[in-house]
Amino acid sequence: MSEIEANVTVRTVASTQSEMTELILPNDTNTLGHLLGGRLMHFIDLTGAMAAYRHSRSHVVTAAMDHIDFIQPVHLGDLVTLKSSVNRAFTTSMEVGVKVWAENTRTASIAHVASAYLVFVAIDMEGRRQRVPQLLPETPDEIRRSEDALRRREYREAEAVRRKNAKLTAARQAETAKQL
Ligand SMILES: CC(C)(COP(=O)(O)OP(=O)(O)OC[C@H]1O[C@@H](n2cnc3c(N)ncnc32)[C@H](O)[C@@H]1OP(=O)(O)O)[C@@H](O)C(=O)NCCC(=O)NCCS
Repeated sequence: MSEIEANVTVRTVASTQSEMTELILPNDTNTLGHLLGGRLMHFIDLTGAMAAYRHSRSHVVTAAMDHIDFIQPVHLGDLVTLKSSVNRAFTTSMEVGVKVWAENTRTASIAHVASAYLVFVAIDMEGRRQRVPQLLPETPDEIRRSEDALRRREYREAEAVRRKNAKLTAARQAETAKQL
C-alpha cells in the first residue's frame, strides 16, 4: 500500500448519488416480454459506476458484483429507474448500492424490482490502483449502510480465505493420493 498516495479528500454520500432511467424496448426482453437479467445487470453496473466515478474522480473497474436480488420481473414498455450511491469507501475500493424501480407507464404503479451491491476499484490510466477519498456517512440510513458494507467486506474476505484453504487441502489430498 505504501506506493499508493494518500488521499485526504472527504466526500459525502449525497455527492455520490446517481440516477438513470431507461425505457424497456423489445431488444431488452426475453420471449415472455420480461427484461433480460443480463441487461438489467448492465444497467446496474453503469449506474453503480456513476456513483464510484463521482466519489473517486478517477477511472474505476468493477471488481465484484457482490449481491443481486431480482425481486420481480420488469415488462416491455416499463420505465426502469436505477439509483446508486457509495455505501463505504475503503483504501482503493468502494462498495456501491444500487436500487431499481419499474414504473408501469399506463397505470403509473411503481415497484421495487431489484437491489445490488457492487465493488469498484479506482485505477489510473496505467492500471495502478488509486487511493479513494474518505466517505462521510451523515444520516442514520447512510451510517447503517456503511456498517453493513463493512460486514459484507469482512464476509467476502473470510470466504476468500476459506476458498483458498479448501483449494490447498484438495491439492494436498491429490498429491497424497498420487504417492499411495
Ligand atoms: C479489481 C482489480 C483491480 C483488483 O486488483 P488486485 O491486484 O487483485 O488488487 P488487490 O487484491 O490488492 O485489491 C485491491 C482492492 O480491490 C479489492 N478487491 C479485489 N478483488 C475484489 C473482489 N473480488 N471483491 C471485492 N473487492 C475486491 C480489495 O479488497 C482491495 O480493496 P482496498 O484497496 O480498498 O483494500 C483487478 O482484479 C482487476 O483489474 N480486475 C478486472 C476488473 C475488470 O476488468 N472489471 C470489469 C470486468 S466485467
